Amino acid sequence: MRKKIVAGNWKMNLNLSEGLKLAESIKNYFHEHPAKNAEAVLCTPFIHLAKVSENIRGSNLAVGAQNCASEESGAFTGEVSCGMIKSTGAEYVIIGHSERRTYYNEDNLLLNKKTVLALKSGLTVIFCCGEVLHEREQNIFFEVVKKQIEVGLFSLSKEDFKHIVIAYEPVWAIGTGLTASPEQAQEMHSYIRNLIMGKYGKETADNTTILYGGSCKPSNAAEIFAKPDVDGGLIGGASLKKEDFCAIVDAI
Ligand code: PGA
Repeated sequence: MRKKIVAGNWKMNLNLSEGLKLAESIKNYFHEHPAKNAEAVLCTPFIHLAKVSENIRGSNLAVGAQNCASEESGAFTGEVSCGMIKSTGAEYVIIGHSERRTYYNEDNLLLNKKTVLALKSGLTVIFCCGEVLHEREQNIFFEVVKKQIEVGLFSLSKEDFKHIVIAYEPVWAIGTGLTASPEQAQEMHSYIRNLIMGKYGKETADNTTILYGGSCKPSNAAEIFAKPDVDGGLIGGASLKKEDFCAIVDAI
């Protein structure tokens, strides 16, 4: 059975002590109420990774980064490599978040390069895809997502693809309070699973975790997660509050 995951994407929020406090409270919650059906992942800013990883050791939480460099090492001032991320104890990295695509002009080819490096370093990649509002309105959202996945991921071997988690995040639903309906999410998730089946076969498709992201909150998580092809969520705003994040993990 494929793994269910709820990953919190803290984005550029919380200083180190605030982040450690939040991680600690989430860890304590899951110590008392173990998440039976899902893995909870905290995707923190780079500077939090080492300390949060250290503090959650022995718990059932995992830690991830929100981005990585597109080069392995060397003279790339300000960048953080996948090897460095891995060395902090982090296990995951988000690649291709719409904010990276939009504000930092990251395109599918660059994201493919980052994905290959992340896998080489032993990280699991949470690869984001999703259409913007006008693409939804023009009914070209399937093609948009297809291209993101084909160019971003389909150069990978079947073996490497085992370390890919996909996050479908309709950009019009991120941070806007608008959520895709459970039916819209299911429709896209099943489309993505079919794409994977066409490329890597049924077993790989069945084993791939596909998350939904975009204004996911305690009040809507359960009905979205109830859809057969939705295997958890990538949570932005609601991951900054212990009660909300834990309630979303419990919704699985
Ligand atoms: P949101 O963000 O939950 O605040 O909409 C989701 C994301 O950007 O991953």
